[in-house]
Amino acid sequence: MTDSTTRSRPLGRTSTTIHPIGLGCMGMSEFYGPAMDEGAAERFLHEAVERGVDHFDTAEMYGIGHNESLVGRALRDRRDGLTIATKFGPLRDPETGAFTGIDGSPANVRRASEGSLARLGMERIDLYYLHRVDPSTPIEETVGAMARLVDDGKVGALGLSEASAETVRRAHAVHPISALQTEYSIFSRHVEDEILPTCRELGITLVAYSPLGRGLLTGRFTESDRPSGDADFRGGGGQPRFEGENYDANLRLVDTVRSVARRHEVLPAQVALAWVLSRGDDVVAIPGTTKSKHLVSNLGALDVALTDADLETLNALSDQVKGERYNEGSMQSVQQ
Ligand code: ATR
Repeated sequence: MTDSTTRSRPLGRTSTTIHPIGLGCMGMSEFYGPAMDEGAAERFLHEAVERGVDHFDTAEMYGIGHNESLVGRALRDRRDGLTIATKFGPLRDPETGAFTGIDGSPANVRRASEGSLARLGMERIDLYYLHRVDPSTPIEETVGAMARLVDDGKVGALGLSEASAETVRRAHAVHPISALQTEYSIFSRHVEDEILPTCRELGITLVAYSPLGRGLLTGRFTESDRPSGDADFRGGGGQPRFEGENYDANLRLVDTVRSVARRHEVLPAQVALAWVLSRGDDVVAIPGTTKSKHLVSNLGALDVALTDADLETLNALSDQVKGERYNEGSMQSVQQ
């Protein structure tokens, strides 16, 4: 456990430090509803910088390049002190958006990084992740090609996303890995068995995505007000935790988060983030939001100090969560 209120945390063993609460940018382009208006999204990214956010997370696949272009347009002229992270690996059909595979080959490392650099309009990607591990390319080959980007000055630090402990070890033996990104929240604690201890041993920062359980832990959803619509993959079969009886059972667990929040006179989302940040100063969170009010509230989680009794209460929830993190198809590409 750590003091969840410290204002900066190291990025792996690099000399860079980052704010414990970064910004996940995916939802600005897709998956949690329609894309934001471009101008509003750029203004929102500027506001995040002004409020102290210094770590922005995007990916080639978010909006099939749209999200990187957006982040680039908004931040390329004010990137001093910022850590801009992007990822590659999953491939999509540009016409339909359908996922067509995962490619960790050296050729794809080169193709994808050039595309990301161009869309970001930056000379360097500060943190470059393999988004999902390609089972048909040895991780050593993928990371070897990523390391060449570091040598060429095109990338600052390397990361993996949703990799198993063994893959992290193999990758780290080729080139230091600075960040391991994975889902991590009060509801998703699978990383604690093997992955987090491995990261700790190797000096790798754990970057927690979906720290709000894709919105579930914020208390914003109810039995009658559930995520819906074609553009929201939570309601469309991609997310078992949001379906049928699972959803109802998981909503009941959120009541416990609400009761902890009430005791501290804060919001459930703040409790959810404070919980993640309490796991260690080698853990940072990248909640995704598209709203100023939520951004402010999320940053306010730094002022929430949970007690041991709160942590004990919250720690008991993950075992009761119903449903996997993803549908069957997508589960096959995590923790590889
Ligand atoms: P991800 O990492 O996948 O983006 P997350 O951070 O766990 O997932 O949750 C993101 C969801 O929580 C989004 O639907 C976001 O919606 P908005 O864009 O409307 O904010 C929602 N969310 C983020 N912060 C929130 C907050 N403080 N209160 C309520 N909802 C919030």
